[in-house]
Amino acid sequence: MNYTIRPTEPGDAAGTAALRRMPGVLETTLGLSSYRTADSNAFLANLGPNDHHFVAVLDDGTVIGVACLQVFGNPRMRHVGSVALMVHADYQNMGVGSALLKTLLDLADNWLMLVRVELTVFADNERAIHLYEKLGFEKEGLKRMTTVRDGKYADEYMMARLRP
Ligand SMILES: CC(C)(COP(=O)(O)OP(=O)(O)OC[C@H]1O[C@@H](n2cnc3c(N)ncnc32)[C@H](O)[C@@H]1OP(=O)(O)O)[C@@H](O)C(=O)NCCC(=O)NCCS
Repeated sequence: MNYTIRPTEPGDAAGTAALRRMPGVLETTLGLSSYRTADSNAFLANLGPNDHHFVAVLDDGTVIGVACLQVFGNPRMRHVGSVALMVHADYQNMGVGSALLKTLLDLADNWLMLVRVELTVFADNERAIHLYEKLGFEKEGLKRMTTVRDGKYADEYMMARLRP
């Protein structure tokens, strides 16, 4: 499978919206089935210099992954960033998520010199937790009943990676 990881462009809005509302993705993210391309356009238009947004795209332009690193704006938290990640349901478990997260961490470590990168993940999202631990994240604590999923409240782990 040939794909490229590159910064997100306005033309990727429909593809990123499709991922965000996709079964197989929205259950373990904070997406909704009603998410529109217009929402995605607005989100992308509002990205600032502290937001580093990437897509993984096939040669035909299909968006198969999305990843974002957001550096905290508070002057006393400029060493901290948070990451978010999602891969198209048909392309999961093929290394795309690992490649996207490595792209974010290279930026965080070598170009932004961040010390701490953090994220939240559903407590039962074993694949994501495996990936995060593989790349140096550690669980810091369980946040209980933080989100709604399919008619129930769900817990999330707070995880972080301090620069090795
Ligand atoms: C979680 C997600 C980003 C991972 O990306 P991916 O491309 O599927 O992951 P990769 O193929 O790069 O790596 C998956 C790893 O998890 C392992 N894995 C797969 N299923 C697993 C499971 N049920 N339990 C533990 N490990 C699992 C794989 O063996 C692989 O490990 P390895 O690299 O050591 O061999 C992707 O599956 C996804 O988008 N899921 C839906 C949305 C989501 O959950 N996003 C994360 C929100 S925090």
